[in-house]
Order: sequence, then C-alpha cells, then structure tokens
Amino acid sequence: MYSEKVMDHFSNPRNVGEIENASGVGTVGNAKCGDIMRIFLDIDENQVIRDCKFKTFGCGAAVATSSMATEMVMGKTVQEALEVTNVAVMEALDGLPPVKVHCSLLAEEAIHAALWDYAEKNGIQIEGLKKPKADIHDEEE
Ligand code: FES
Repeated sequence: MYSEKVMDHFSNPRNVGEIENASGVGTVGNAKCGDIMRIFLDIDENQVIRDCKFKTFGCGAAVATSSMATEMVMGKTVQEALEVTNVAVMEALDGLPPVKVHCSLLAEEAIHAALWDYAEKNGIQIEGLKKPKADIHDEEE
C-alpha cells in the first residue's frame, strides 16, 4: 500500500527536531484526524533556507511527507520553497494512497505558515504566498 520511499521516510525520518531562534515557525493541524505538524526554518540573509526541521504528532504518512518536504526545501530560496507543494512531495515519495492525501497537505501548509512567519518578522512579502489559515486552535470543530 505504501511505496518504499514512504516507508523509508517514515521509519527513518530526516530532519526531526527543532531550531532555536528559527527565522520562521509554522504550526498547522487537521481538525478531523487531530494530527499536528510544526516546521522550523533557518533562513540566511540571501533568503536561502539553510536548515529546516520538523516535529509531527501524526500518522505515518504525515511523518513521511514532513521528512521529504524538509529535504526538498533545504537550500532553496523562500520563493523556490513555494514550489514544494503537496503534489511535488507526494511525487517525490512515489505517491500516497488517496485517503492519505490530506496528510501531505499538512506539510505544504506548515511550510507556508513558517514562510509567512518569516516574512512577517522581517517585514517582507513573498510573492504568491497566502496568509495561512487561522491558528489551529480556532479550527477545531
Ligand atoms: Fe491525519 Fe495523516 S491521518 S495527517
């Protein structure tokens, strides 16, 4: 049911942890399954992501997609990082079962929320980046 890459990133996730004094932090959750994902970005003065870590309290697919997403944004500019969509992450993982697509959305949303946090802190605008949904606590049904 899961590709080898998904199993690999689930059993051996890359970039787990936190970054102290991160340039941007994004936390998102899915109200239905209750899973939560937090992404930390360390961004240099040229707007290049030099480090990225994540913490995910969630299912295996959420762990695997966050792991892959952190690898994909590393070394990219904040603008390029916007292209790391959930579809791109799923493709890099050789696909996810349809019922698990929402898990990959969390990864995209968490990166966007972290980029938004970075942009706000630095008073800049990242073209094409939309304001993240309300804080996860407001999302509960
Ligand atoms: Fe909720 Fe996967 S089941 S993130």
